[in-house]
Amino acid sequence: MAPKESIVVVGAGIIGLDVALVLAERGYGKNLTVVAEHLPGDTAVDYTSPWAGCNFSAISGSDANALRWDKLGYSHLSKLASERPEETFVRRTESIELWDEDVPHQKIKEMSEYLEDFRVLPAEELPVGVKFAIGFTTLTINAPLHMRFLQRLLTDHYGVQFVRQKLPSIQAAFSNPATTVVFNCTGNAARTLAGVEDAKCFPTRGQVLLTRAPHVQTNIMRHGKGYETYVIPRPESNGNVVLGGFMQKGVSDGSTYSYETESILDRTTKLSPELGQSEYEILAPFAGMRPSREGGARVERDGIEVAGEKRVLVHNYGAGGTGFQAGYGMAVDAVKTVEDVLRQLRGASARPRL
Ligand SMILES: Cc1cc2nc3c(=O)[nH]c(=O)nc-3n(C[C@H](O)[C@H](O)[C@H](O)COP(=O)(O)OP(=O)(O)OC[C@H]3O[C@@H](n4cnc5c(N)ncnc54)[C@H](O)[C@@H]3O)c2cc1C
Ligand SMILES: *[C@@H]1O[C@H](CO)[C@@H](O)[C@H](O)[C@H]1NC(C)=O
Ligand SMILES: *[C@@H]1O[C@H](CO)[C@@H](O)[C@H](O)[C@H]1NC(C)=O
Ligand SMILES: *[C@@H]1O[C@H](CO)[C@@H](O)[C@H](O)[C@H]1NC(C)=O
Repeated sequence: MAPKESIVVVGAGIIGLDVALVLAERGYGKNLTVVAEHLPGDTAVDYTSPWAGCNFSAISGSDANALRWDKLGYSHLSKLASERPEETFVRRTESIELWDEDVPHQKIKEMSEYLEDFRVLPAEELPVGVKFAIGFTTLTINAPLHMRFLQRLLTDHYGVQFVRQKLPSIQAAFSNPATTVVFNCTGNAARTLAGVEDAKCFPTRGQVLLTRAPHVQTNIMRHGKGYETYVIPRPESNGNVVLGGFMQKGVSDGSTYSYETESILDRTTKLSPELGQSEYEILAPFAGMRPSREGGARVERDGIEVAGEKRVLVHNYGAGGTGFQAGYGMAVDAVKTVEDVLRQLRGASARPRL
């Protein structure tokens, strides 16, 4: 028996890491292995998480799931920002969001109940073409370094094991008979991975520019018709700022384009009063693919036949553009679907839950 593989999490993007964290916080760290082709510190066009901007925004969906995940995510990230930002790479940042049209009023009303320093900006202060705008304290995340923080926390503090391996199918994650549950957190691979092959999944490409502009302190984003523009200072990064962006549905092209760079520079200097105030350096353009899914993310328990035996599989993929802000809440829901299985793992060492 290999008790470390009682639970297998496939994928080490933010979604897999958050599932591992929720399980570890519940006492299952030593029963858990994360298996992934790419691990924190890697870059690859099919490893989305390191490319995220990364902020908490009202751009997420308006359905009950999205609302719950956002709220859980905001409180989780706030805690990390309060505790030790220089270690977690999550920081409170002033944020402004503007809408040209289709303002999600009901959603904003619900979010206003927990967002710190929430306010609606007066109509007379809005730039031309903007219908509605809010200010609040967001949480900005240095995505690649936050992921490395999570991996270190999971291994050093909770005893989680990480294995670098590309699985030929999701069934392969069940190769150890001691494995009682597998979490499928494979992002964009969900569309093609044997055993999953979810046709509802599609990539949403975004090009961003990594710049060095230490004078920028405010997160700002404008949601327009057919465009998304944002300026996001990266915490603990020596003044790096992410400028964006694009939301290109169904596009999975990892190249970057000079005309998109021009468009980003043009839009962000108009949007952010701070950005153009001093010289700034463009470090590099990047393109990332948000793992999107028609109908929203899939967080669901399922059964799967492996070598004639029924095994437990939990899906957790399709986070689209919100894996960092919604990931912790999605993980809480994903883990909840297998309470009964987890209880068995505890066996004799059952502990009462607080
Ligand atoms: C430009 C851009 C900006 C963004 N900004 C934000 C933001 O500000 N806030 C926010 O919340 N979100 C943001 N996002 C979205 C966020 O990045 C994604 O929602 C998130 O990264 C999805 O994470 P994931 O874990 O599902 O996928 P991934 O990070 O792609 O991880 C997939 C994992 O599965 C593994 N895997 C896949 N197939 C296999 C296999 N066969 N065998 C083994 N392992 C396998 C991979 O190796 C990897 O470890 C942004 C995205 C982009 C592109
Ligand atoms: C889970 O891990 C604990 C150690 O923390 C161990 O005592 C227990 O046997 C493991 N459970 C299973 C089913 O492997
Ligand atoms: C800001 O956050 C939203 C939602 O989390 C996300 O879709 C958007 O891509 C983010 N911007 C950047 C640059 O990451
Ligand atoms: C695992 O998740 C991916 C999406 O990340 C999906 O395409 C695939 O179908 C899933 N596998 C199974 C067996 O559900």
